[in-house]
Amino acid sequence: MSWWRDAVVYQVYPRSFQDSDGDGVGDLAGIERRLEHIAALGAGALWLSPVYPSPLADFGYDVSDHTAVDPVYGTLGDFDRLVASAHDRDLRLLMDLVPCHTSIEHPWFSEHPDRYVWADGRGDGPPNNWLATFGGPAWTRDERSGRWYLHSFYPEQPDLDWRNPAVVAAMQDVVRFWRARGVDGFRIDAIDRLVKDERLRDDPPAGAPFGLPLPAEYARLEHLYSTNSPEIRQALAALREAAGDALLVGEVYVPSAATGPYLEHLDAVFAFELFHAPWEEVPLRAAIEACAKASKGGAAWVLSNHDFARLPNRVGAENVRAAAVLLLTLPGLAFVYQGEEIGQVDGPVTERVYDRAGRDPFRHPVQWGPEPERAGFTTGTPWLAPVDAGERSVASQSGDPASLLELYRALIALRPALGPGLTMLDAAPGVVAYARGDHLVAVNTTAEAAGLPWAAETVLESEPGPVSAGSLGPHAAVVLRRD
Ligand code: GLC
Repeated sequence: MSWWRDAVVYQVYPRSFQDSDGDGVGDLAGIERRLEHIAALGAGALWLSPVYPSPLADFGYDVSDHTAVDPVYGTLGDFDRLVASAHDRDLRLLMDLVPCHTSIEHPWFSEHPDRYVWADGRGDGPPNNWLATFGGPAWTRDERSGRWYLHSFYPEQPDLDWRNPAVVAAMQDVVRFWRARGVDGFRIDAIDRLVKDERLRDDPPAGAPFGLPLPAEYARLEHLYSTNSPEIRQALAALREAAGDALLVGEVYVPSAATGPYLEHLDAVFAFELFHAPWEEVPLRAAIEACAKASKGGAAWVLSNHDFARLPNRVGAENVRAAAVLLLTLPGLAFVYQGEEIGQVDGPVTERVYDRAGRDPFRHPVQWGPEPERAGFTTGTPWLAPVDAGERSVASQSGDPASLLELYRALIALRPALGPGLTMLDAAPGVVAYARGDHLVAVNTTAEAAGLPWAAETVLESEPGPVSAGSLGPHAAVVLRRD
């Protein structure tokens, strides 16, 4: 059986994990120093958001060299040491592969413009009506040539042309480069954009809602021709060929029903429907069923990452313990975003904006200790300040049986005991319930106590204290075992 089948993967956002040299930005040596935290949580792997050289238009997702480490994070030597230390602790390491676009400052853009998607304008305007995710047209005119280049995200991120065999070969080389350094897999960025309609047909206006949250302007169109092309399959086959049996997890931001073709070559895709489901029984249950069905065991369950509001801000602080039970008792991969395990909340919007798409609040440093200014993250001035380290930190929660951190640890320790499969069960209104073999899981999404229809032994509760017989407290969750 593959090492990752039911593994927990811990997402490290390198700028904000641990600084080791006092410049206020996290780095590889800092990650190595804190590996013990990830191991003690019980995770089987860590995923590093990009550490490649980047001009930071999109904080690392604009890569200017795929086979190097940005000096702010350290050197390739530091990287090799991190991989070795992770492996010593039985932790696997996943890189973030960004195959859809590069930075506009990547040498390819000037030396090999044919590796990007170019087109002539329509009159004075762009070649078609496609939109960039973060706003505005998906095309920018190059002043020198007068032609337009495509960018699914910021204009500083030109899209690569995966119809060009040189692009395919170059990306395969990137995969082989990191595999040779011992990397165990990749989270693959934005792959629903990898290949677009060759005829560049206009996207139609949006009819039915997309099913996942989208920026308002971008949601005006149905992205029929600019995303999710059937030809993406060939591109993924090429990545698989280079990756061998490495774990490949896709960021495919489409409703689960459309993820099937991606799973022909990937091991798993993020279950974004559950991520974004409102904290209510009916939508949660529908999302679990839809993702589990579509992915046939290849769901990567996730409730937070660096792109969206943190979990307490989305589901309410009163529900984060039950959310942890839900996330960590579903079958398949589960992803935990750094700080989620101590209940970190969004930071304030400050005058100094780093990410133009407004994602700074989700990226504040991990609060290792209670000191409010630096929180154990740095000895210098942190690039983004800790939010509320006096209220929550790894140090203050570690060893406290009532803490969220200890609940995450207990749940991860319990995972291997849960039986195979997933059977949804009917319980009281407002309760999401399912069986994993002999184990039953019940999650109360409401503010009222709810009856439990089963007489079974309690294995784990989201709230400390005895469960009163047959009843689940407000916002509580429980794992039971049938006799
Ligand atoms: C993914 C990343 C996001 C980035 C985008 C473009 O969605 O998670 O942070 O901005 O791709 O690379």
